[in-house]
Amino acid sequence: MEAHFYEWANLLVRWAHVVAAIMWIGDSFLFMWLDSHLTPSERSKQPGQDAVVGELWMVHSGGFYEVYKRKYLKPGEMPQDLYWFKWESYSTWLSGALLLVVVYYMSGSGFMVEADGPLSHRLAIVAAVLAIGCAWLAYDALCFTPLAKNLRVLGVFGLVAVTAVAFGFTRIFTARAAYLHTGALLGTIMACNVFFRIIPSQKALLAATKAGTTPDVTLGLRAKMRSTHNHYLTLPVLFTMLSNHFPSVYGHALSWLVLGCVFVLGVSMKRLMITKRQSHPMVIGAAIVSAVTVLVMTAPARAPAAVDPGGPKVPFAAVKQIMELRCTGCHATKPTISGIAAPPNGLVLESPAVIRDKRELIKLRAVTTKTMPLGNLTAMTDEERKTLERWIDQGAAIE
Ligand code: HEC
Repeated sequence: MEAHFYEWANLLVRWAHVVAAIMWIGDSFLFMWLDSHLTPSERSKQPGQDAVVGELWMVHSGGFYEVYKRKYLKPGEMPQDLYWFKWESYSTWLSGALLLVVVYYMSGSGFMVEADGPLSHRLAIVAAVLAIGCAWLAYDALCFTPLAKNLRVLGVFGLVAVTAVAFGFTRIFTARAAYLHTGALLGTIMACNVFFRIIPSQKALLAATKAGTTPDVTLGLRAKMRSTHNHYLTLPVLFTMLSNHFPSVYGHALSWLVLGCVFVLGVSMKRLMITKRQSHPMVIGAAIVSAVTVLVMTAPARAPAAVDPGGPKVPFAAVKQIMELRCTGCHATKPTISGIAAPPNGLVLESPAVIRDKRELIKLRAVTTKTMPLGNLTAMTDEERKTLERWIDQGAAIE
């Protein structure tokens, strides 16, 4: 019953999270795109219209949209309805935090920590929350230093810092939780940017308009800086969220380095998406180099297999025994490990034919990446992993 509840909680919260994230990131993409496609407006030359910085025409959903951007509103220009974009971000963060709680903090320890890892499940949760909180404080403080004035320098600094954090996470969490928490950390920075910096700046601008005083335009610039940071973080954060489905990536021995390269790729792609009509050899170069590095790093090893398949023939009985000891607690028609309602991903490792058919997937998870058994809850030994590998490399016979 409890597992059934978690299954549904997981699905519903995930659904809400994805919908909220689409809205938030959609807004972010649209407004960055608008900003980069504004053209100088004739209107700005009219008397009293110097706040106009550009205009843009669009056609969509059967109508034409005319947009003007103003740096600020003058007293008396306050429109009756002014739309804010903040709940998209808050709801993404709230649903994401809830999802983290459902998947990693409440439903057993296997997703979060290795059974023989340095931290208990509870301590790992404390470490995660602390790391995320401290990361926001550190980033926010950094934004007030001269370093933040140069986006490129800040970018390089941020890349090194995030890769270091990811490295640290891989030491204390499971490979999967390490990736996800790196993403959650960046997502939190993005949401905090909106909550603590962007919205308050916009409120101050409006308050000045209402009070009839000239608004301090640096407030708008400050908000824009944070919004630009958020924008560059979108692709890397989305990658970490989707990475959960790709054990060959998050389960790589140097997964933190892979993540660093992916971040370079994501940020470069974002750059190319918003700068129009200019080719940027440096950015294109960074995108290509990082993509190739990731592909090469994660390619299956060409080095000779760790075990010699020519050794003594592994009988299927030995494999079956390993499955029963280490896998079928979860991967059975009726799982016996608490918290697992149904065989994960529908994978039941009880019949010889399935074990043979799924051998490559089993090898990837239990031998190459060691991302199975989950958190090594069933204490699989390296010897058993080698036995499995040898059986698979010998042709996976089931008689
Ligand atoms: C404590 C529970 C648990 C144990 C024990 C466990 N697994 Fe898993 N397994 C999961 C969960 C949860 C997933 C789905 C999440 C994921 O893919 O990481 C999964 C996914 C998999 C997948 C991916 C299936 C797919 O369709 O992508 C394979 C392969 C796998 N396990 C193999 C094994 C093998 C082999 C063992 C034993 C050596 C094992 N698992 C032990 C929980 C477990």
